[in-house]
Amino acid sequence: MDKRPIGVFDSGLGGLSTVRAIKKILPNEDIVYFGDTGRVPYGTRSNETIETYTAQDIKFLQAFDCKMIVVACGTVSTVSAHIIERLSLPATGITYPSAKAAAEATKNGVIGIMGTSATINSGAFDRAIHSFKSDAKIVSVACPILVPLVENSWIDEDDEVTAAAVKRYLKDILEAGSDTIILGCTHFPLLAPIVQKAAGEGVTLIDSGLEEAKYVKSVLEEKGLQNERGHIGEQRFFVSDKPQNFTSAANTLLGESIDGRCEFVDIFRYI
Ligand code: DGL
Repeated sequence: MDKRPIGVFDSGLGGLSTVRAIKKILPNEDIVYFGDTGRVPYGTRSNETIETYTAQDIKFLQAFDCKMIVVACGTVSTVSAHIIERLSLPATGITYPSAKAAAEATKNGVIGIMGTSATINSGAFDRAIHSFKSDAKIVSVACPILVPLVENSWIDEDDEVTAAAVKRYLKDILEAGSDTIILGCTHFPLLAPIVQKAAGEGVTLIDSGLEEAKYVKSVLEEKGLQNERGHIGEQRFFVSDKPQNFTSAANTLLGESIDGRCEFVDIFRYI
């Protein structure tokens, strides 16, 4: 049993898709979340910049004596995988759990990946999928425009602008006959209804936040790090820009009010 919190971070509010899933699957766990809202998006930046941000974000969370670091950002998970692997405490990104789930879900072996430009350029998802299913055909598409749409809460199922952007990004993935699509950026599970509508009911969507949360559960169980049963998990949130925008979006995404539980942090202090 371990009462320490789980540290979760993302470039912004996309990682709340992971928090949402952890809250459901691991209701006893405390969470400290950092959203780098002052520097989002990460996915259009250079690998060097993403690595620097990764190191700072982790350093901030380590100040809370976290028992596990959960990288709820596809860009960091793929570009900074070497930094995550070198940590001395349990840690995970979204790549391994999502790739495994996709390899298991596909029937025709054609898998689409939606991610940020940095994620798609890294080729990390392709390598991870091929390690589970060497003959998988993979169609990867960088979808950078979807990140600001989510950050601005244009996530309503009927939002015509977001639906048009999704449709355009899905073209190659669907033309190739993909029966499974990885939502390989944690912002994208928040668009799942729009993607599902555009892709059709026969296509399986892999929710990177959900798969990551399931994997976190398995790691905590394996290492005996779960919090005590009966404890009601608490969440604290930190952002690197004004908390107001994040708070109102988070209230909708998490389906509960986080008013008064979100604070500003000067992330530049963590070097
Ligand atoms: N949620 C992020 C990801 O999973 C970020 C998008 C971005 O910052 O560009 O890649």
